Amino acid sequence: MAQTHSKRILLGVTGGIAAYKAAELTRLLVKAGHTVQVVMTEAATHFVGPATFQALSGKPVLTKLWDGDSGMAHIDLSRDADVILIAPASANFIAKLAHGLADDLLSTLCLARACPLTVAPAMNKQMWDNPATQRNLAQLRQDGVALFDPASGAQACGEVGMGRMQEAETLLIELEALFQPKCLAGQRVLVTAGPTYEAIDPVRGITNLSSGKMGYAIARAAWEAGAEVVLISGPTALALPPHVRAIHITSAQEMQAAVLREIKPMSIFISVAAVADYRVAQTAKQKLKKTDTAPTLTLTPNPDILAQVAALPKPPFCVGFAAETEKLAAHAQAKRARKNIPLIVANRAQDALGQDESELILIDSHGAHDLPRAKKLVLARQVIAHISDLL
Ligand code: C5P
Repeated sequence: MAQTHSKRILLGVTGGIAAYKAAELTRLLVKAGHTVQVVMTEAATHFVGPATFQALSGKPVLTKLWDGDSGMAHIDLSRDADVILIAPASANFIAKLAHGLADDLLSTLCLARACPLTVAPAMNKQMWDNPATQRNLAQLRQDGVALFDPASGAQACGEVGMGRMQEAETLLIELEALFQPKCLAGQRVLVTAGPTYEAIDPVRGITNLSSGKMGYAIARAAWEAGAEVVLISGPTALALPPHVRAIHITSAQEMQAAVLREIKPMSIFISVAAVADYRVAQTAKQKLKKTDTAPTLTLTPNPDILAQVAALPKPPFCVGFAAETEKLAAHAQAKRARKNIPLIVANRAQDALGQDESELILIDSHGAHDLPRAKKLVLARQVIAHISDLL
């Protein structure tokens, strides 16, 4: 099953204002358990000092071809890395990579590498649009270099357009995805996540406690495994994983409509959302006034979206989640049978709600499999690997 292993990352920083984002990236990579060796070009040191990267990575920063004891820093460094990431990669450095130039430590170790090379470009929009840059980028793609394309937006030079380097959080996610097995390549996966909110009146409502963390981790893990992913999400405060198409909804009925609209081409449906079981029969248009007597709310059941999908003539592979406070396995097993789904994932509600970690039981036709306590992303990767085994 997929696990997070710490990786040895060689982070190459070239001359551009986005070098400040590389400092944050170094911090995030180290926090995620990876080892980071920073190599800077001379131009990069004009934007951020090596001492900043040294403090964040805990390792001396190398800048010159003749740094190191052996005089072979370019060979030693590239042999000691699982992956090289150039972030930011300037237009000049991309041109050097495309032509195999090796006139400083970073370009030389890239040429001498025996590991994957990834590049996060950052430059002014005119430099990005320049046919020479586009030609060089096409050459890198052809050479098997992974490009983390820049985003569009306001630039440090005052112009607006393509060329802003991806944010550090996104680059961390992109980099970690490279190391995950592509066990869902070619699959289309629909995930629901978060709570639903059922309005009582314009300012009050009924909802379930759900942070959405597990559903978002499942969506990310499915994309990492090579699937095309659509995420239908109730209200959460979470950042979307990259490359996942998101549809935001509020109520269970909106979630049902979105699921039924999207389900046809899907091969897998993973229903992680904490759907409210009931909604108010009649939502008040105006704010209800407080009275001395306790009001009575008439509730009506919401549709069971998962059971409805599982009952389609040609259902996708359906996976349910069951958060229980007691008799975890028994309740989850009963739910699996009632909804007629091949796999249900059970967790103890009091252990998992809003937390970054959880522990799960996977229940399928072969029996129960325990997944011990771990970060939700690690568990999500294990759930995805299990789904791929069952498929
Ligand atoms: O029926 P129960 O809420 O206990 O089952 C939980 C599973 O069913 C979860 O996968 C949840 O996303 C899904 N569900 C649903 N529609 C509902 C209630 C739950 O799809 N109305």
